Amino acid sequence: MTSSKDPLLQPYRLKHLTLKNRIMSTAHEPAYSEDGMPKDRYRLYHLEKAKGGMALTMTAGSAIVSEDSPPAFGNLYAYSDEIVPWLKKIADDCHEHDCAVMIQLTHLGRRTGWNKGDWLPVLSASPVREAAHRSFPKEIEDWDIERIVGDYAAAAARMQAAGLDGIELEAYGHLMDGFWSPATNHRDDDFGGSLDNRLRFTNMVLDAIRASVGADFIVGIRMVADEDWDKGLSKEEGIEIARRLAGSGRVDFLNIIRGHIDHDAPLTKVIPIQGMAASPHLDFAGEVRAATKFPVFHAARIADVATARHAIAEGKLDMVGMTRAHIADPHIVRKIEEGREAEIRPCVGATYCLDRIYEGGGALCIHNAATGREAIVPHVIRKSEGPKRKAVVVGAGPAGLEAARVLAERGHQVEVLEATGAAGGQILLAQRNPRRRELIGIIDWRLAELERLGVPIHYNVFAGVDDIEERAPDLVVVATGGIAQNPALDAGDNLVVSSWDIIAGAVKPEGPVLLYDDNGAHSGMTAAELIARAGVELEIVSPERMFAPEIGGMNHVPYAAAFAEHNVRVTINTRLKSVRRDANGLIATLGSDFSGKAVVERRVAQVVVEHGTLPMDELYRELKPLSRNLGAVDYKALLRGENPIPQRNPAAGFDMFRIGDAVSSRNIHAGIYDALRYGVLVRAKPV
Ligand SMILES: Cc1cc2nc3c(=O)[nH]c(=O)nc-3n(C[C@H](O)[C@H](O)[C@H](O)COP(=O)(O)O)c2cc1C
Ligand code: SF4
Repeated sequence: MTSSKDPLLQPYRLKHLTLKNRIMSTAHEPAYSEDGMPKDRYRLYHLEKAKGGMALTMTAGSAIVSEDSPPAFGNLYAYSDEIVPWLKKIADDCHEHDCAVMIQLTHLGRRTGWNKGDWLPVLSASPVREAAHRSFPKEIEDWDIERIVGDYAAAAARMQAAGLDGIELEAYGHLMDGFWSPATNHRDDDFGGSLDNRLRFTNMVLDAIRASVGADFIVGIRMVADEDWDKGLSKEEGIEIARRLAGSGRVDFLNIIRGHIDHDAPLTKVIPIQGMAASPHLDFAGEVRAATKFPVFHAARIADVATARHAIAEGKLDMVGMTRAHIADPHIVRKIEEGREAEIRPCVGATYCLDRIYEGGGALCIHNAATGREAIVPHVIRKSEGPKRKAVVVGAGPAGLEAARVLAERGHQVEVLEATGAAGGQILLAQRNPRRRELIGIIDWRLAELERLGVPIHYNVFAGVDDIEERAPDLVVVATGGIAQNPALDAGDNLVVSSWDIIAGAVKPEGPVLLYDDNGAHSGMTAAELIARAGVELEIVSPERMFAPEIGGMNHVPYAAAFAEHNVRVTINTRLKSVRRDANGLIATLGSDFSGKAVVERRVAQVVVEHGTLPMDELYRELKPLSRNLGAVDYKALLRGENPIPQRNPAAGFDMFRIGDAVSSRNIHAGIYDALRYGVLVRAKPV
């Protein structure tokens, strides 16, 4: 399809505003705010998408209009005048690239914590607890309503003053729709009961906003039109609300949500993670568009361009949200326009991004380490101005492939040596969980990029010093990964198998299994899920306060579902001490870090252990004395954005650094970030 005919690239007129194409990023709080303000990190993040060709970026996610809606995940303070100049900078920068900028405003209602911000009481339509944030809201009173309606209007005026193109009100899981939903509105006054009453607060807010910003400013609403929940708002009522809002003359677009978000499990249905169906609510959003004949936006795992194109071509949506897709690759539109669709870095649905914000971190993409770090590392890697150098990368896992890609983009001559017959490293294991198969996209994309860049990969080469020396490189990158290690046991080290043995299929699960996980990440849980789904009796034992603490809330959901469905026993606060053989089986002795008195035994057929990895660093150690930097890295230079390789042994022939699990047991993002930042900063030889 030529780009001139591509439905995705056709402009869209929204009121007075012409959006240059049909692709947007929906509201999402990446938790990059500083003191509630969208400072440079925030700005550069949105600017990158603007440079990438996106038509509309909805900034913030749930920017808060009132002080008694304290930030739950790094939310911006829309209630403060201080925000105006910061937003103006974002708007000005994005406008230079013809990208419209709006912001989502909200009062979080019960979707926040009572012990955050200024410790003002959390409130909701009725005092119904929200499981996700564990708040007990007070029932909103008349004076609260008056105050919050005014806060919405004042916040909208600030956004207009900042030069934004419009605002969107959040109405799913927050205060506004808390009035709509029978699950959260048990009132018997003018704000409860009939739909008219349940919409009263929304209408008051819209009236106040229009009085504040006038009729021309764009005001949309991101609204739940079906809570898909026996206790909640029905589809019929939801679509009726959409109709009324569309007909009210005070709203300019609807951004459609289906589901409820008061708990992690339903939240994953609203924002599906990997292994779940793609674009599950697209048809529903199309139904709302047909019912209202009004501009409809929507996002929910429309991660690929073909589905996005279909959504527009079939008239299901006016603007298609590809939010995580742009966290993975902010340059989607530019690549479509330039006929480079195949080069789009895929969003693999890992939802590391979203899980991090709920754990108090900033959103990071599992395999694009530049996102959120635009000030430090580039998305587009420029050719080096220095001489072309020869680099050898050892290991074709995610870190090694990323290093090879980055160095090749810089114009260096790169080759990769891989000990096995296939690229992928530990991702080859992880994707053996059928739900997590899409992770292979992290490898496939890099393999395709390396092919494009002309980087050869030599398989089945277990690289030794000779293999390196005969290539006479200027730079060696050691990305040899790690190997599963056992936890320290008092006895029985030889009687246990590793989670890797189970995942790889090298050892068949034999029940009853005791799986001991003191790493707390995906590998242990993947082994557990495979064992449970094989119908084998399983107990998971963790020394932590919860199982798998390294896995965020959304990724926790499918594991927890598998364990619930297969009756898996989960035992926390308990440490595996030793294993001994007994008749045909094994006896696992368990103890407690909290009390020396608590010792119990379990008779099982198999003990599976998960304790992260030990670096496979033999080659690194052998090459270390031969390298110019003697293996050392200058962290201060790295953090200053300078060549991180010191010269300690100037007579030597090559510099060397090691990355990923070859250094220590971490995760995919850590390895890829190592590769990216060393890769862009290293000078392959002092010049
Ligand atoms: C890090 C992150 C934070 C989010 N925060 C919000 C938010 O505050 N308000 C909102 O309406 N949606 C939020 N979302 C949901 C997105 O707007 C979008 O609906 C969701 O990611 C599904 O679309 P996608 O599959 O295109 O990513 C967030 C998403 C992410 C990834
Ligand atoms: S972390 Fe996963 S879901 Fe989030 S943007 Fe990256 S690839 Fe997509």
